[in-house]
Amino acid sequence: MGLLIAVVVILVMNGVADGLSMNYYLFTCPFAEMIIKNTVNKALQSDPTLAAGLLRMHFHDCFIEGCDGSVLIDSTKGNTAEKDSPANLSLRGYEIIDAAKEQLEKQCPGVVSCADILAMAARDAVFFAGGPVYDIPKGRKDGRRSKIEDTANLPPPSFNSSQLINMFGQHGFTVQEMVALSGAHTLGTARCSSFKSRLSNFDSKNDLDPSLDTQFARTLAKTCSAGDNAEQPFDSSRNAFDNDYFNALQRKAGVLFSDQTLFASVTTRGIVNGYAMNQAMFFFDFLRAMVKMGLLDVKEGSKGEVRNSCRMIN
Ligand code: HEM
Ligand SMILES: *[C@@H]1O[C@H](CO)[C@@H](O)[C@H](O)[C@H]1NC(C)=O
Ligand SMILES: *[C@@H]1O[C@H](CO)[C@@H](O)[C@H](O)[C@H]1NC(C)=O
Repeated sequence: MGLLIAVVVILVMNGVADGLSMNYYLFTCPFAEMIIKNTVNKALQSDPTLAAGLLRMHFHDCFIEGCDGSVLIDSTKGNTAEKDSPANLSLRGYEIIDAAKEQLEKQCPGVVSCADILAMAARDAVFFAGGPVYDIPKGRKDGRRSKIEDTANLPPPSFNSSQLINMFGQHGFTVQEMVALSGAHTLGTARCSSFKSRLSNFDSKNDLDPSLDTQFARTLAKTCSAGDNAEQPFDSSRNAFDNDYFNALQRKAGVLFSDQTLFASVTTRGIVNGYAMNQAMFFFDFLRAMVKMGLLDVKEGSKGEVRNSCRMIN
């Protein structure tokens, strides 16, 4: 398996980003991986729900301006950052990145980028939650731009499967990779505001989203009775990285419209059924797609910097 992963990683990396490497910090910060893993493990032991937060934060980082830590930047007087977009949708886990960065700065000041810290932390979170283990290339530099308007590039939960295929396709992902990445929703929760439009006045013909199981619709409505910020777990094991999410889609019990569309659409249903039946296949496709996502528009050399604080451009 180890060799297989190594081979896959080489294939994925081939010609994508030559400045990155698996042992980028070998001489400059040999304990970087260990420091980050320990920090993540410690934080998740006290709050396992933050695994979802770290994974989602890495996704948002990579889809906006590439994986360059832009999602970590705080707004300033003159600049409203990505973070403060309505699409920030409750990102969580910033303190874990700060804690890792603080320790790394003590060990090897100015060496490890925030984008790399986030990529490794997301990877460690997946493993902590019971998901696949995988190695990722390092060497991303931190970007100098973080603007609220760029968050328009994130997929909204109202997207149907062809819209998702399109948007992920624009980032170079196949249909299968898009479905595998959506499997990240095996972790975490969504707030009522992200799915309530499925529960009433759905469209001109239906009050209720017809792709939604009527019994599960009652569950969602009950969650929403506690308000827009009430949280609904994506599947029955919100802190466990498994293939339960795909089983839920088969029962028409996907939380977001953008989840259920993967089963409702014939283009993607077969992939959902495959992952529901075979967790190992899901894990393998997921880790490959994650390595690929982690290489999106990576900034190398002078195109970026290594931030002193992950919340501020140097
Ligand atoms: C396919 C398109 C996607 C859409 C439309 C989407 C949308 C959403 C929405 C609306 C939420 C709930 C936010 C809230 O209500 O607070 C959410 C949560 C989440 N998303 Fe996605 N997402 C997508 C893909 C991804 C990908 C590719 C990943 C990671 C690889 C990811 C990871 C997560 C995680 C882990 C959560 C739970 C966060 C938590 O519990 O704190 N999502 N997503
Ligand atoms: C976005 O993040 C900011 C700061 O963390 C928070 O105050 C705000 O309520 C968030 N917006 C939404 C819509 O979640
Ligand atoms: C998805 O939504 C778009 C835009 O609303 C629409 O044109 C398209 O027909 C929809 N596709 C499917 C498969 O429903």
